[in-house]
Order: sequence, then C-alpha cells, then structure tokens
Amino acid sequence: MISGRGSNLGALIADQANAPYKIVSVISNIEGAGGLARAAEAGIATQVIPHKGPLGTNKTREDFDAELDAALRAAGVEIVCLAGFMRILSDGFTRAWEGRLINIHPSLLPAYKGTHVHERVIEARESQSGASVHFVVPELDAGPVIAQARVPVHADDSPDTLAARVLEVEHKLYPAALRLLADGKVKLEKGLAVFG
Ligand code: GAR
Repeated sequence: MISGRGSNLGALIADQANAPYKIVSVISNIEGAGGLARAAEAGIATQVIPHKGPLGTNKTREDFDAELDAALRAAGVEIVCLAGFMRILSDGFTRAWEGRLINIHPSLLPAYKGTHVHERVIEARESQSGASVHFVVPELDAGPVIAQARVPVHADDSPDTLAARVLEVEHKLYPAALRLLADGKVKLEKGLAVFG
C-alpha cells in the first residue's frame, strides 16, 4: 500500500522475479500517486481507495480500513507491505493482519518515530541514522523490527540529502526483509520478531 512516488515499491518490483514473493496488488489512498504508474508498467493490478469521502471529508478510519481489508482479501493477499503509505491504520486492521503487515520507516527505530524524521535527526546532531522494516502493531512505529540499515549523517546534511542517503539503503532493506517474512524465516510471536 502506497501514498506517493513508490520508490520502495519499485525496489520490490525489481526484486520479485526470483524472490519468494509476488506482488499481486498495489493500493493507493491517493489518486495519481507515482507508484501506481510504476505498478501498472510492471503489469500489477492497482486500485485507488481514497481516505476522503464525499465533499472532501475524511472517511472514518474504520470505514476506510474496512475498504482496504476487503480489497486485500479480494486480491488474495497474504502479506501487506506499507511502502510510504501515509495513513495511520486502526487497531482492528493491524490486529486482523498481525504478523502479515510490515512497514518501512526512515529511522533507526525505536528512535524517531512519526513524521519529519530527517529534520529531527539533523536538529539533534545525530552522527548516524538509517531505516527500519518492522511488523506493524497498533502503536505507531512501535512494532518489532525485522531488519535495519545504518547510514552516516554528515555535518552539512539537509533533510533532503539525508533522506536520499537513507532511501538508497531502504531499497535494499525492504526486499531483504520481505524475503525473510515470505520465506518463513521471521515470525511475529508474542510481540517479538523471532528468527529461524
Ligand atoms: C520512504 O522514505 C519511507 O521510509 C517513508 O516514506 C518514504 C516513501 O518513499 N515512510 C514513512 O515515513 C512511513 N512513516 P517511496 O514512496 O519512494 O517509497
């Protein structure tokens, strides 16, 4: 599920040829999101499920999530990857997909949950940052980490230069983490990521 340009989706598409997973559906809450075109070019079914209702009002989280859930089930989805999907999911949705729902976040979780990560990392004069792929649980960005990659933060970094450096490692990290899950080499058990 995506909301934007979908460069992480692009990395998963590029990886899937000899991977233990196949992308069967791409869902965006934003019409015209760049990732939809990437998916369509790769011959993957796409769907737009707006989080807005009529007259620009937001649907309730539960109604929106029920639509997502129905679309995922109709597509026969087994694992849901959030790849720049910028909506918070309801507790009910995250519980329904527990252990089969993962996200990529541009920080070394549990540090820097939430938004404006790179601004905050630079502000705090961190020497390192990175990316994390984690199981999604109801609490935002708090689920057990499956894999992380680290990058240096340079003294002259702007949020954009740091974001670009982190994004480069995201594109290797997400396929690697999804392979682990699809291969059954990592599982969510009693709130922990268990490997083996
Ligand atoms: C990525 O940097 C991803 O880590 C971040 O959004 C970007 C999406 O880029 N996700 C979050 O911040 C989730 N809270 P992409 O659309 O090019 O994959």
